[in-house]
Amino acid sequence: MAYLDECTTLISAERIAERVAQIGKQITEDYAGKELIVACVLKGGFMFCADLVRQISMPLKLDFISASSYGSGSTSTGNVRIFKDLEMDIKGKDLLLVEDIVDSGTTIKTLRDMLLARDPASIKVCALLDKPDRRKADIEADYVCFAIPDEFVVGYGLDYDSRYRNLPDVMVLAPSEYL
Ligand code: IMP
Ligand code: MG
Repeated sequence: MAYLDECTTLISAERIAERVAQIGKQITEDYAGKELIVACVLKGGFMFCADLVRQISMPLKLDFISASSYGSGSTSTGNVRIFKDLEMDIKGKDLLLVEDIVDSGTTIKTLRDMLLARDPASIKVCALLDKPDRRKADIEADYVCFAIPDEFVVGYGLDYDSRYRNLPDVMVLAPSEYL
């Protein structure tokens, strides 16, 4: 496909599915008997979250929050904006934030700190991807599907300038496309 000429596959859809099933099983075990609320962090988390919740075999509630620390480019501005807040009351509940990627960590740390003030029983973070080399904020995800090197990736929910979210694989975007 011509629009994929600028991308190379880093993690195939098959590997993602396998790992998401493992993490879903782990979450099912860890949250047994608890009142789990899964909060999908939009937009990047939409595909991962849709697959993940189908691998969690216990009752849960699903909510959405939309946040962004990026403009339209590929570098973080460090400012986190909430476009859409959670609708559910999380007081006393166990909240699992489902993110596409933890990069500098600014977005997820800001979200977690904001939500902790609402007095949930617990907050954990589940990330599809982790770029540990880029971390600035003092935060680690509790569940990580894949740690990846410092390269800009797209697909499976992740975008560059709002494009590529629909790709089934996680792909590396050639720097010539965004530099
Ligand atoms: P952080 O606040 O620096 O951790 O950035 C987190 C957000 O930046 C993610 O939710 C993504 O939307 C975006 N982001 C970071 N790295 C990448 C990448 O390699 N590809 C696409 N989006 C990314
Ligand atoms: Mg993004």
